[in-house]
Amino acid sequence: MGNPEKGRRIMANVREQWSGGWGFILAAAGSAIGLGNIWKFPYITGENGGGAFVLIYLLCIAAIGLPVMLCEMALGRHTQRNPVGAFKMLNPASCRVAHGVGAAICIGGLFLLAFKWWGWGVVALCLGMAIFRWRWVVVGVMGVAAGFIILAFYSVVGGWTIGYIVLAASGRLNFADVAAADAAFVSFAGHPAWAIGCHAVFMALCIGIVYKGVRAGIERWSKILMPLMFVLLLVLILRGLTLPGARAGVQFYLNPDFSRITAQSVLIALGHAFFSLSLGMGAIITYGSYLGKQQNLFAAGLSVVILDTAVALLAGLAIFPAVFAQGFSPDAGTGLVFKVIPAVFFHVPLGAFWAVLFFLLLAVAALTSGVSLLEVVTAYFVDERGWTRARAAAAVGAGIFGMGCLCAISLNDWTRLAWLHTVLLKVFGSVKGSFFDMLDHTASNWMLPLGGFFITIFVGWIWSARRAAAEIRQGGENYADASMVQLLAGLNEPGDRGAVTPLTLWGIFIRFVSPAAVLIAFLHTIGWLTFASAPPAAPRPGPPAAAADAAPDAGPATAR
Ligand code: TRP
Repeated sequence: MGNPEKGRRIMANVREQWSGGWGFILAAAGSAIGLGNIWKFPYITGENGGGAFVLIYLLCIAAIGLPVMLCEMALGRHTQRNPVGAFKMLNPASCRVAHGVGAAICIGGLFLLAFKWWGWGVVALCLGMAIFRWRWVVVGVMGVAAGFIILAFYSVVGGWTIGYIVLAASGRLNFADVAAADAAFVSFAGHPAWAIGCHAVFMALCIGIVYKGVRAGIERWSKILMPLMFVLLLVLILRGLTLPGARAGVQFYLNPDFSRITAQSVLIALGHAFFSLSLGMGAIITYGSYLGKQQNLFAAGLSVVILDTAVALLAGLAIFPAVFAQGFSPDAGTGLVFKVIPAVFFHVPLGAFWAVLFFLLLAVAALTSGVSLLEVVTAYFVDERGWTRARAAAAVGAGIFGMGCLCAISLNDWTRLAWLHTVLLKVFGSVKGSFFDMLDHTASNWMLPLGGFFITIFVGWIWSARRAAAEIRQGGENYADASMVQLLAGLNEPGDRGAVTPLTLWGIFIRFVSPAAVLIAFLHTIGWLTFASAPPAAPRPGPPAAAADAAPDAGPATAR
């Protein structure tokens, strides 16, 4: 194949597609439903006013989550590419916004250098120049990089869930109280052989599924694992609700306490909506790129959002009643899953069995999310570098495994990674937390919110809402342009054009509301924006606002 352009076109022609709408919906729901839903949502709800927080979360999902998800789906399906390829294809030849941002970051970098912040100065300078040179493609590159980084620590936590299945099944997970469970968790996660072994198993499963391809791998396994996950969840809810004393848990979880809603909790809800729907780094762009033109993007996006939200809400019902029934405190925060839950099941008849089910549920949820993260990076090497899927999945998986190992062996301290610590300290001047914390913080608090912000700006203003809307319309003609009133009444017909249609609403949201909201949440997370009405007691340091700190930050915090 002498002509590379031709080669690329041939590759694009054989690009795989989901077998139908359900293939996409289940795969995307598999990506969205993860540790964030089952581990994090329940406890931040508990900390932020129960039912009142749930209402705000639903609002964020509808007003920000759904519109941004449609942006990513439209980008993916229109370009039929991974995030980098998608932005490459739509990149305007010259763009004042990108040049301005690039130049501004370069100037910032020079200032940093002038003040002898060498590491950050060089990072800013390189970033600024990259933006100047490649403009919007940098957003795609950041997404692929975020996929790599997130999976490195996500799979360590995924490994713990697998390890805990084994421990529970072999009866070694029976602790009379939380302190004992805590000690056991610390020695388990802090033991390099265990942690790396479990991490390896988790990564091997992800690689195996991605290696098989879109239909035979991701879709097939989503169709098996997602129903399994629902069944496990329902069984665990029934178990929890039928324990004596479960009512208090339901009340704690769902009783709306509006006095605990603050600006901060709204931002937490927004950030979590983003993280939970896997937005901001192109996971949905990638999955959307395997969608056929006849699919209805509105319906598919709405289904994914509803499934994800339903599982988050149900997870709270599986956890809190059981925790309350045993008289444990629900505010263990990050440690809830690995420290409180094992102790809870110790007191329940057939505890080991329930514990196996619970950690199986977590492992399944984490696995389908891990697969989506790996697929983003794999698709990049397949589309842009012309690698075979097998080679890309194996090589990328191995690289991520390597970085994950560094996380796994340095949970509590840097002693095993002194060289890396020295290098980072030399370059950046200070290092906060463990390597695990560092990756989590960089990806979740910086890359995802910035990615989400620039994706909405790009779709709303650069690619233009008009062209994106044309993409969304395909396959969704019946209601994209129907008037909202007609739609609610069920009277919409193809060709109806009302003033307020789903599509016009979407345009307004992605051009104005979503970017503004995401930007505010981001500035708040990085501490440049604070609200006078800070909550009386911040539950944990480092508020997980924009894009919420990744689920796994359970890890280091709990292991400490
Ligand atoms: N949404 C997943 C969860 O709730 C995590 C996740 C998977 C994710 N893929 C992602 C988050 C991509 C952001 C971007 O646990």
